[in-house]
Amino acid sequence: MYSALQLLDRVNSYLSGLKLVHGPENLYAPVEYVLSLGGKRIRPVLMLLSYNLYKENVEPVLPQAAALEIYHNYTLLHDDVMDKSDFRRGKPTVHKVWNENTAILSGDAMLVLAYQFLSRNNPPHFGQLQDLFSQTALEICEGQQYDMDFETRNDVTVGEYVRMIRLKTAVLLAAALKMGAVLADAPSGDAGILYDFGINMGLAFQLKDDYLDVYGDPAVFGKKIGGDILCNKKTYMLIEALAHADARQQAELEHWLGETGCVPEEKIAAVTRLYDEVGIKGICENKMREYYVSAIEGLSGLSVADEKVQSLKHFAEHLMYREM
Ligand code: IPE
Ligand code: IPE
Ligand code: MG
Ligand code: MG
Ligand code: MG
Repeated sequence: MYSALQLLDRVNSYLSGLKLVHGPENLYAPVEYVLSLGGKRIRPVLMLLSYNLYKENVEPVLPQAAALEIYHNYTLLHDDVMDKSDFRRGKPTVHKVWNENTAILSGDAMLVLAYQFLSRNNPPHFGQLQDLFSQTALEICEGQQYDMDFETRNDVTVGEYVRMIRLKTAVLLAAALKMGAVLADAPSGDAGILYDFGINMGLAFQLKDDYLDVYGDPAVFGKKIGGDILCNKKTYMLIEALAHADARQQAELEHWLGETGCVPEEKIAAVTRLYDEVGIKGICENKMREYYVSAIEGLSGLSVADEKVQSLKHFAEHLMYREM
């Protein structure tokens, strides 16, 4: 059994050994660029941690782990266009270095590449794997559309927010874990438990991403702080801030939601101050902890020995305390 760090090493060397670049240069250079910036690579690591609960040698399934990471990076290229994000992983985004058309088409190419890696070496249960992957990819589109639709609505409920982040983020973590189980021929009950663990982890993960978008250190987080505030993203923090605000704070928040032509830094500072006033940090931390506890509790039903499950629990804890 490997540690998450050892698995990350395997993923990194597999990905850096790939020859993805052909011509034309303007199609493939952005693919190489975004993959070279790394990121946490949690989806392939989750898949391999899950696989490793049942099978020792992870070598044969590295292509499927790579498929998850390439797929994830494709979503980022498109997401950064949609969110008008100029920085990721501490570097300018693909549509800033090249342009939006390039981000769209190189993203499309990465989606195709992801499917090629998914089928590489004829993995066991390929039909089931492909169904899961495609279902997940479609759900992520649904989540992304809700996320965009919510920008122009001010009555989004916590329930709607949770459904949206489940779709745009949690299902991919869940699918990664389930893919590991399916590839390893794990009992189907275990595959379901791992999927649910991924959903709860994924919900906590997106809550933390939204939190870091306001309170993170840009040098560590690698993205511009306040991007969600500028886009009027309906995060849990904003929804709860509106719910907990007194009349004055509510009016101020609504004023800033209607501000589009203002100085960006002024809006970010004002909304962050209102978040601080209503104590949104603590409210958000409690919600994250709720999902984290549910995630860990759900693992007790797995058929594997407790000491093996520890690796997953440690990884979940590490994600909870991340600053990037
Ligand atoms: C960013 O994912 C998109 C979200 C779902 C929040 P990550 O936080 O996993 O990004 P990288 O791959 O580590 O850069
Ligand atoms: C991204 O959510 C989810 C997907 C990429 C599908 P965000 O828009 O919050 O992710 P970041 O913050 O840009 O990484
Ligand atoms: Mg984004
Ligand atoms: Mg987004
Ligand atoms: Mg974000």
